[in-house]
Amino acid sequence: MFEHKPRPEWVATEEFLSDVVVHPDPALEQAIRSAAEAGMPPIEVAPNAGKLLKLLVQLSGARRILEIGTLAGFSTIWMGRGLPDGGTLVTCEYLPKHAEVAWANIDAAGLGEKVEIRLGPALDTLAALEEEAREPFDFIFIDADKENNSRYLEWAVRLGRSGTTVVLDNTIWEGAVLDPDKDPVNAPGIIDALKLLGEHPGLDATVIQTVGSKGWDGFALARVL
Ligand code: SAH
Ligand code: DHB
Ligand code: MG
Repeated sequence: MFEHKPRPEWVATEEFLSDVVVHPDPALEQAIRSAAEAGMPPIEVAPNAGKLLKLLVQLSGARRILEIGTLAGFSTIWMGRGLPDGGTLVTCEYLPKHAEVAWANIDAAGLGEKVEIRLGPALDTLAALEEEAREPFDFIFIDADKENNSRYLEWAVRLGRSGTTVVLDNTIWEGAVLDPDKDPVNAPGIIDALKLLGEHPGLDATVIQTVGSKGWDGFALARVL
């Protein structure tokens, strides 16, 4: 796993913001604990980023969410909290262990009726979702293997509609976007996806840099045209 390098003051500030403003609920806190107990990597979004996802879901009026990369369900639960009655969320995960831990957390959060975990490589699931000819997704969160970021963005355009909100996590990667040698495995996929966001005729995007418990990173926010 690539080493993220949070400064202690970024972590302390994030904890302050989480306590004072964000207020993660007990199911979200349990999701973090369960992941640690299961030996899963602590690579879920930070609480303030999770809350941002929930608010973006609500602000965009999304009823159908697609997530690529479930882990223990932390971001899934945040986004699920933003869904209206009757809303649905499909989340893609290829590790059975992660899906199992996530399902327990999602169910305990009261979201078992709304969320479907699709086990398997996300690219296979995305092709299957297209075959199923579902209604377009209103909100898509991409947060899995960075090598496939550009492919996931292309799928987001295909499985979304004009106005769909797309959020892509991990867009700065400790500055590896300017220095790919820092992480030759993941940096090229992250950089290619940024270039695609800037030139894709079907997307309008911006990118925000962040610091916090996950180090120096960021996310892209895009709208399907
Ligand atoms: N979105 C989560 C974090 C996801 S971490 C959160 O913020 O809480 C990335 C997850 O993607 C891991 O669980 C990993 O197993 C999964 N993953 C990686 N490559 C994948 C692939 N090709 N298909 C499906 N899942 C994948
Ligand atoms: C990693 C993956 C993520 O999606 C993330 O937000 C942070 C770290 C990782 O693989 O190291
Ligand atoms: Mg991420």
